[in-house]
Amino acid sequence: MQYLLMHKRIPVVPMEIDESTGAITFLGALAAPQHLPIGIAYSGAEVDRKSLNDWWSGRSIPASRSGLREALETMGVSSPQLLLTKCFGLSLSDQYWVCPENSGLKWEDVNFFDHPFSDDVGNILFGDAPANDDIDLTSPDNTSDGQLRKKWKVIDGKRCLLKGGSNPAQQEPYNEAIASAIMRRLGIAHIPYSVELIDETPYSVCEDFITPQTELVSAWHIMQTSKKLNHMSNYQHYLYCCQMLGIPGVADALDRMLAVDFLIVNEDRHLNNFGAVRNAETLAWIGAAPIFDCGTSMWHDRFTEQIQPLGKQTSKPFRTDHAEQIKLVKSWEWLDFSALKGIDEEFREIVKGSPSIDEARLDALCYGLKKRAQLLQENVRTRGREGTGRDER
Ligand SMILES: Nc1ncnc2c1ncn2[C@@H]1O[C@H](COP(=O)(O)OP(=O)(O)OP(=O)(O)O)[C@@H](O)[C@H]1O
Ligand SMILES: [Mg+2]
Repeated sequence: MQYLLMHKRIPVVPMEIDESTGAITFLGALAAPQHLPIGIAYSGAEVDRKSLNDWWSGRSIPASRSGLREALETMGVSSPQLLLTKCFGLSLSDQYWVCPENSGLKWEDVNFFDHPFSDDVGNILFGDAPANDDIDLTSPDNTSDGQLRKKWKVIDGKRCLLKGGSNPAQQEPYNEAIASAIMRRLGIAHIPYSVELIDETPYSVCEDFITPQTELVSAWHIMQTSKKLNHMSNYQHYLYCCQMLGIPGVADALDRMLAVDFLIVNEDRHLNNFGAVRNAETLAWIGAAPIFDCGTSMWHDRFTEQIQPLGKQTSKPFRTDHAEQIKLVKSWEWLDFSALKGIDEEFREIVKGSPSIDEARLDALCYGLKKRAQLLQENVRTRGREGTGRDER
């Protein structure tokens, strides 16, 4: 079927999508190069089809999503790519969509920021049986990324993302909340998360931080905008790409993100878990995205006896050990350790009442967090407040 790839109201490139696979099989002449998704290769009016196909399929629910197979079965859809056109590829994290040729549809008619959407896909992804046989697939959940079960829901008129945890401790939602508390105390730009129990299962809840005027671009896509030179580290390459694109404040934002990830022992800060925000109409860059997705941290998948704040702690995205990654921080001038006083007790309050985290685990977590704060302070003291990342510039 023929579509136009749209960036909000701007037609970007005509394309043909094979309805049986969901793949882009043909691309017409590029009409608005500046409005192509960031990092997509093109030459003249010709867009690299593989590059756009990767972007398009990367927009669908990842194969690794918890409960996906069962959900697809319930919906009677053979692959998550086939869900994309059911919602015109619309998302609540950016302004791209596909307009069926000659349909006359406008962004104003279809976008999920202003229009209600079906709860069916989200409920099915959460493992609930559909309310009736007539499943409505018009949902921004069709374009949601990440491994954990999640759904968009309108709460008090606001678009919110509800996200579950994983076994054994279902700890990720609580980790999101403690990370929010740390960043609130330290004055770091972040997405505030709270925890909600639904049928004795914890979920994190956060508001959509994207508006109809803005969009999130992942670090991964930013890093595709130029070829990495061999002598450059990924850290240097990311800063270089941000500089070339004109994204302000990225080095300072990275300092804060690496420090938070050290504190909470985040193991999964991959390149789609941070990025930048731009104005989707003027294309002006606003800056680094506020920090989101901090749940895969605090030894969430370890047994209580394995909660060990000292020693090697796996990190991403620039180094594999937090003790090494923290050395990339350029400046510590902004960090007021006194603001972290009693953070372990705040964690205790947040987790209190959790059906899946017992007293012994909570004690170990609170001790672990306190210890990480001490370790960070020692680290800063021995290396000096100026930081040590200067050689990485
Ligand atoms: N509050 C938000 N507003 C807008 N978009 C968001 C928000 N939170 C998350 N997203 C988008 O949804 C994606 C998935 O969310 P998130 O990273 O929290 O899920 P996850 O399952 O924890 O991911 P992972 O597989 O990295 O662990 C993000 O990469 C981002 O693009
Ligand atoms: Mg994520």
